[in-house]
Amino acid sequence: MCGIVGYIGDKKASDIIIKGLERLEYRGYDSAGIALVNGVLEIKKGKGKVANLKKMVRDHPMNGNVGVGHTRWATHGAPNDINSHPHVSKSGNIALVHNGIIENYVTLKKELQSKGHTFYSDTDTEVVVQLIEEIYQNGKDIDFEQAVQLALKQIVGTYGLAILHEKEPDQIIVARKGSPLLIGVGEGEMFIASDASPIVEHTQKVVYLDDGEMAIINKDGYEVKTIDDVVLTKEVHELSLSLEEIEKKGYPHFMLKEIFEQPESIADCLRGRLDLENNTIQLGGLVDVIDQLTDAKRLIIAACGTSWHSALLGEYLIEHLAKIPVEVEYASEFRYREQLIGEGDVMLVISQSGETADTLAALREAKERGALVLGICNVVGSTIARETHAGVYTHAGPEIGVASTKAFTAQVSVLIMIAILLGQKRNAISEDYATKLIQELNRIPQKVKQILDNGDTLEDMAKLFTYAPNFLYLGRTYNFPVALEGALKLKEISYIHAEGYPAAEMKHGPIALIDEMMPVVVIAATDHTNDKMISNIEEVKARDGRLIAIAGENNEAVTDLAEFSSVIPETLDCLTPLLTVIPLQLLSYYIAVNRGCDVDQPRNLAKSVTVE
Ligand code: G6P
Repeated sequence: MCGIVGYIGDKKASDIIIKGLERLEYRGYDSAGIALVNGVLEIKKGKGKVANLKKMVRDHPMNGNVGVGHTRWATHGAPNDINSHPHVSKSGNIALVHNGIIENYVTLKKELQSKGHTFYSDTDTEVVVQLIEEIYQNGKDIDFEQAVQLALKQIVGTYGLAILHEKEPDQIIVARKGSPLLIGVGEGEMFIASDASPIVEHTQKVVYLDDGEMAIINKDGYEVKTIDDVVLTKEVHELSLSLEEIEKKGYPHFMLKEIFEQPESIADCLRGRLDLENNTIQLGGLVDVIDQLTDAKRLIIAACGTSWHSALLGEYLIEHLAKIPVEVEYASEFRYREQLIGEGDVMLVISQSGETADTLAALREAKERGALVLGICNVVGSTIARETHAGVYTHAGPEIGVASTKAFTAQVSVLIMIAILLGQKRNAISEDYATKLIQELNRIPQKVKQILDNGDTLEDMAKLFTYAPNFLYLGRTYNFPVALEGALKLKEISYIHAEGYPAAEMKHGPIALIDEMMPVVVIAATDHTNDKMISNIEEVKARDGRLIAIAGENNEAVTDLAEFSSVIPETLDCLTPLLTVIPLQLLSYYIAVNRGCDVDQPRNLAKSVTVE
């Protein structure tokens, strides 16, 4: 989704900003732009990739040491040159970039039009820059900073904003409500960005802005205050991100790199948390809340996208191992319906980015009603991580590919650990079973590696299905969420229509679609439902569906029936999702590459969905 980067210092701002925008490309976007102050305000922007913007700047260099850049993911108005950010005020003196949505922009626009303002774009953003100028020019004894504050008070909606003024060339003003922004603190130079990836090569020191805060930044420092002008002292955090982690390391795509990183990312997630001698689980982030969690009468898990699939797996795992009833909610639905949650309840939110607007809103609703809110996040210091009472980091490392892979397996690993921990605390599982689970969980990274080492079969298989118009994915119990995730991966990056279904539910609709053109991926790796799965496979076969099986290595009853098989090492039933999802990730990846799709930045998608 939209990205912001800015620089103020002594260096050539355009170089730093363009490089920063390239680092933000992974978030998903459709146009890019830059504004610099160099005596006058200079703007370059346009539809398409950062590479186009880079060419514009190469052909007509921009000088200056202060500026802001933006990648836009269209919400209001088509992705075209005019709607791209930065947007400029009527006088041409003020420029700004914006992430988020201004909900009352229609009302504000009408008011401004009645005062003689002309609007060039279809965006909600342009209202902000015109409003600031209107207040600045017509207010009595109002300086620029105050004009920004007064404008922000009139805005309803969400924003991460970075604002330049031609006549105040020594500062950038930023503000946050609902869309993340951070300040990178350098020596004699400052950076701003919507996430840490453009900053990490310049400084490890960052200040995270919270909602309702703004900052006035110049090259030697910054002042953070509320929009009501109360000056704040903010903690300076040390980034744990390294530059190496956000580069491709020789892989053609970030997604492939991240798929192949899973043996290490799962191991990193488990590290220090599995006590293999005493067969217990240590989750430091939950220590303070463990009694309340153990005694919970029910647990609500809210998330979006791939994280929602993890949540669904969490339900199967926690109900099976800890015997706590679990409800899984799409965060976007939870926030707008009757919320029967309150004191004594526990909500767990799951988010790779820790910034998803709907997930954040769900947690705030639950928190406001007195529930204990816990998080499973990947991005350290993210808003969700900061706003939850307690939680567990997945430690999967930065995930750049828009389609989530290693974050999913890390989330599932955390959920398995939580389920075992609660199962032990509640005496809901035998010590013998807990021991088996913990010891086997420790072997999972090696088994993932085994699957990846044999990935060539999937590359060959992908060639045969590259032009299939539809795919069906079927799974049962723990592998039903994996079927959903497999289908999501394929549609996200290859644009093939794909559906995931509980295998038996197929008879209630999707079976009508099955013919000799329909690839059906069956995930048959769960022992206690294997016979049932075999019946479903026979049903597909009887209708000439093209059967692809993801099956356990000794599951010949399934592999003999399938046209193609990808075999996974044996493991305990409830751990199979950590293995079965790997061939599905690879299959989607190879199909998307064969179709010439932009794997890391699929059309219309965003990595971090900061608008609802
Ligand atoms: C977007 C991403 C998905 C992700 C979802 C939820 O749609 O493209 O990969 O699963 O958001 O994101 P979160 O960061 O909350 O896990």
